[in-house]
Amino acid sequence: MDKFIIEGGRPLRGTIAVAGSKNAVLALMPATLLAPGVYRIRRTPNLRDVWTMSRLLARLGVHVELSPGGELFLDTRSISSFEAPYEHVKKMRASIYVLGPLLARYGRARVSLPGGCAFGPRPVDLHLKGMEKLGAEIDVEHGYINARADRLRGATIHLDVPSVGATVNILYAASLAEGETILTNAAIEPEVTALAQMLVAMGAQIEGIGTSTLRIRGVPALTPLEVIENIPDRIEAATYLIAAAATRGSVRLVHANPYHLGAVLDKLEEIGCTLDVDGSTISLRCDGEITPTNVTTAPYPGFPTDVQAQWITLMLTARGTSRITETIYPTRFGHVPELRRLGAEIEIADSTAIVTGGATLQGATVMSSDLRASASLVLAGLVAEGTTEVLRVYHLDRGYERMEERLQQLGGQIVRVPTDEY
Ligand code: EPZ
Repeated sequence: MDKFIIEGGRPLRGTIAVAGSKNAVLALMPATLLAPGVYRIRRTPNLRDVWTMSRLLARLGVHVELSPGGELFLDTRSISSFEAPYEHVKKMRASIYVLGPLLARYGRARVSLPGGCAFGPRPVDLHLKGMEKLGAEIDVEHGYINARADRLRGATIHLDVPSVGATVNILYAASLAEGETILTNAAIEPEVTALAQMLVAMGAQIEGIGTSTLRIRGVPALTPLEVIENIPDRIEAATYLIAAAATRGSVRLVHANPYHLGAVLDKLEEIGCTLDVDGSTISLRCDGEITPTNVTTAPYPGFPTDVQAQWITLMLTARGTSRITETIYPTRFGHVPELRRLGAEIEIADSTAIVTGGATLQGATVMSSDLRASASLVLAGLVAEGTTEVLRVYHLDRGYERMEERLQQLGGQIVRVPTDEY
C-alpha cells in the first residue's frame, strides 16, 4: 500500500504529455474479442484498470502484453472461456464490457454483476435491456448475469439515460447482429466515438457516430485491426489544468485534444485563467485571483462528472461562494468529508456542494475513497499550507499514470512512500 506525502504552497509550472485515455482503451480492448486476430493498441496508459482488464481478457484466453512504450498487444485467436468472475468485476465495473462481445461472437457469456462503488449504486439494467432487445436470453442468479443468444437480431433500442457503458455494450453486440439496430439517446462521449470508429475500421457499418442516434447494420463477421491509436485522456488533462490553476501556476499540455474539453476550458476561462489552444497543445496560466462560479455536471459535451471532485478543490481557492451540482451520480461526494479535514468549508444540499472558498487550507492526513476523489485530495494537498498525506493511492493509480512523477516534473513537492497505514 502506498501513500503520497505532499508539501503544499508551490505553483505548478511546466509541460507534460497527456496519456492515452483510460475510458477509451477499456472499451477498445474487449472489441478485439469480436474478431479473432492479433491487435496492437497504441498509446495505452499504464494503469491499474488496464492491468485488471488485461487479466480478465487473459482469463478468457486472450494473450495480452503491454510494452514499456504503451503499445498493448492482444491475440484473441484462442478464446477458451466465456466467464468474467466476481474477482475481476469487483475491482472494475468496466469488466462488464466483455458481455456484448462474448454474446455477439460466441453466443454466450457469464458475467458477475458489478456491485456498487464508493459514489453510489452503479446499475447495469440498461446493458441487460439492450442485450435482451437484441435477442439474448438473460437471467441473473447468484450474482451472475447468464446470457445466451444463438443469433442476435437488430432492434430499435432507446436508452432512458445516455449511459456510456450501455452504449458500448450495444455497439459491440449490434455490430454482429442480423439486421439493423437503431439506438437512440446513445452516449456521445469521445470514448464511445473512439470505439465506434474502431468497429468501423474492423468492418462494422455504423452511421451517426458522434450523435445520440446510432444506426448499426450488422455484418456476418468483423476483421481484426493490426494497429489502433488510442485517444488522449480528457479527464487526466482536465485534472492537470485544474492543478495548475489551483496552485496559481502555469502548465502546457501536449498531445491533448482540446475539442474534448470544451466545457472545462470554458469554465477555466470564466473564472479568470488565461488559456491558449494551439492544435493538440493547451496552455494555461493562472496568476491572479480566480472568481467563484457555478457548475452542473452533465453527459458529454457538458461538464464531466469525472472532473467534479477536482473542480471543488479549485473552487476552495476562489474567494466567495460557488455551487457544484452533480446530476450523474448524486452522491458522488466522498471527497468532501476528507476536504473538510483540511479546513474546507463545504455544505452538501441535495446533490449540490456549496463551497465557501478563500480560507487557507491546512495540511492533514486524508483518505482516498475513489479514483477522482483521490485526485481532488492530491490537488488540495498541493494547495494546503504544510504537509498533507493522502492514503490509499491505489485508487489514484487506477486512472492516473505515475501522478507523483508528473507533478514532480511540474515542481510539485510530492513523494510516494510505501506504508502499512490504510
Ligand atoms: C463511464 O461509466 C465512465 N467509466 C465513468 O468514469 C463516468 O463517470 C461515467 O461513464 C459517466 O460519464 C468508464 O468509461 C469506464 P454510465 P459508466 O453508464 O459507463 C446510470 C472514471 O472516473 N445507469 O454513463 O458506468 C448510472 O447510474 C469513471 O473514469 C443506469 O441507470 O457510466 C449513472 O447515473 C467513474 N443504468 C448514469 O447512468 C445502466 O444500466 C451514467 O452512467 C447504466 C447506467
